[in-house]
Amino acid sequence: MNAFQYRDGELFCEDLAVAPLAEEFGTPLWIYSKAQLLHQLGQIQEAFADVEPVICYSVKANSNLTLLRTMNEAGASFDVVSGGELFRVKQAGADTTRVVFAGVGKTDDEIRFALECDILKFDVESEAELDAISAVASSMGKVGRVALRLNPDIDAKTHEKTTTGKKGNKFGMDIERAGQLADKVLADPNLQLSGIHMHLGSPIHSTEPYERAAQKAIEIVREYRSKGHDISWINLGGGFAISYRHEEGLSASEYAKVIVPAVQEAECRLALEPGRFIAGNSGVLISKVIFTKREGGKLFYIQDGGMNDLVRPAMYDGFHRVWPVKPAVEMPADAESQPAGTEAADVVGPICESCDYLAKDRFLPPMERGDLLCTYSAGAYGTVMSSNYNSRPRGTEIMVDGDSYRIVRRKENYEDLVRHELVD
Ligand code: LLP
Repeated sequence: MNAFQYRDGELFCEDLAVAPLAEEFGTPLWIYSKAQLLHQLGQIQEAFADVEPVICYSVKANSNLTLLRTMNEAGASFDVVSGGELFRVKQAGADTTRVVFAGVGKTDDEIRFALECDILKFDVESEAELDAISAVASSMGKVGRVALRLNPDIDAKTHEKTTTGKKGNKFGMDIERAGQLADKVLADPNLQLSGIHMHLGSPIHSTEPYERAAQKAIEIVREYRSKGHDISWINLGGGFAISYRHEEGLSASEYAKVIVPAVQEAECRLALEPGRFIAGNSGVLISKVIFTKREGGKLFYIQDGGMNDLVRPAMYDGFHRVWPVKPAVEMPADAESQPAGTEAADVVGPICESCDYLAKDRFLPPMERGDLLCTYSAGAYGTVMSSNYNSRPRGTEIMVDGDSYRIVRRKENYEDLVRHELVD
């Protein structure tokens, strides 16, 4: 399924033309497809149905309340990494008793809030954190349910800035140390060890790292059980990839093929934390060309979507397809081709940084001042990582459902930019 398609030469989201929305709400404009979001979640639910997983949508990918509500209504739970994300989950009306909480730096306040919400478990990343959970739980007369986050030292071949399951980064702990902590938990009446957690990186374009992690998980679950722990959960984190170039990506069932048998063998429940797979291709960023410029032998389209809106290209060399909303040349199926009538150009923003671009050296149809441009695959790690850098107000967010839509975040104005500042 692809909710963003061209019909009669112009871009639609589901059954709504995009250009009138941009006219009405201005640009930059974020558009999400409800059908695509539900389709993506449904793919995972279906692929893993045999083990009745708890699918904890990873709130960090896109934390808009309406999106969270949509996930909740469709049966997902949530993976959070801060008190703020947990607050959002509550605001969305979700049941917090199925929430998992990862993150290397949980504060006592966040731990207390999570215990009040009776979350399913903390994914514990260090001994110091385990001690903090124990102390806070004890002060509240509660028992903290924990899973140990293991660093399995598996190279998931992601961008160096998004790898997490390799030795030498700050996440999780090595298997030996986790074993020692498991012993410590046994002696602590304020803690209960109910599972293990691994997140390998993001995005992961092959199933092999999951297969290796799942096999390791079986061994560790057996070991912990033999020590007397009642281990019932394996959480394999997120990381399922999406296609940014519109190439064939892995399907949820391909990941399931290597994960499900291991979970069955370990006789455990499965938790997953997909973010990008659900939100990534369910959202686009629409921007407007302000100027075109030829300089130094290059063609620049300067448009009003900046690195403050979508930072992935600047930060991770993230590749996003870009194509006009009403193109003079049809968008080719693959990102690499150079159709007749196109010319190489950089799509840049208005921010005063040379890394402020959405696309570099892309073959694009001719565009003029005022033309609308679509940046694809922007639903995950777009708005959540956006900022007001250069004092730029952020744009409207809209969710489309069939031939109707609703505003799910209003655009900011200049007043919003100074709202929290104090001057005398
Ligand atoms: N679980 C944990 C513990 C994580 O650290 C992450 C992502 C996820 C789940 C969700 O991963 P996903 O299914 O979305 O791949 N800003 C970067 C991605 C950072 C991912 C951080 N952790 C980007 O724009 O590519």
